[in-house]
Amino acid sequence: MNAIDLVQDDHARFRKLLDELDKTTEKGIKTREQGFARLKREVVSHEQMEEQIFYPALREARQKAEDIVLEGIEEHHVANLIVEELSSLPADDEAWGAKMSVLKESIEHHMKEEEGEMFAHARKAFTSAELEELGKQMAEAKKTVFESLTP
Ligand SMILES: [Fe+2]
Ligand SMILES: [Fe+2]
Repeated sequence: MNAIDLVQDDHARFRKLLDELDKTTEKGIKTREQGFARLKREVVSHEQMEEQIFYPALREARQKAEDIVLEGIEEHHVANLIVEELSSLPADDEAWGAKMSVLKESIEHHMKEEEGEMFAHARKAFTSAELEELGKQMAEAKKTVFESLTP
């Protein structure tokens, strides 16, 4: 799968999972715990594959993409802070749903920027063969991180 399709594919899964989690209530503790654990593992490995492979390659190939790449890294950082807070918050805590909504908004904003400005740069910076090769490297990086994280 090429780099752009790979990222987009993950994003589609995140959107679905975030929607499901956002609809849960304090009564759905098990749904919250299981869904959040899955989201966390997937989001963290996705961010890592972007930061290890996609972002540096884009930045190197296209000077104009530098700002959006740096912004992307900061948005990952913000999302990770909320993920960490949610990790140590009981799923029936009254703040859980509010934190999840903020996480959802934050990740949705970030995905939109990647799919818009960042992908536009990537399409200009790389040939389709290069996007294929990048995608291969990214899938491997993601798998390594994913398997290193506890389910
Ligand atoms: Fe992404
Ligand atoms: Fe990202």
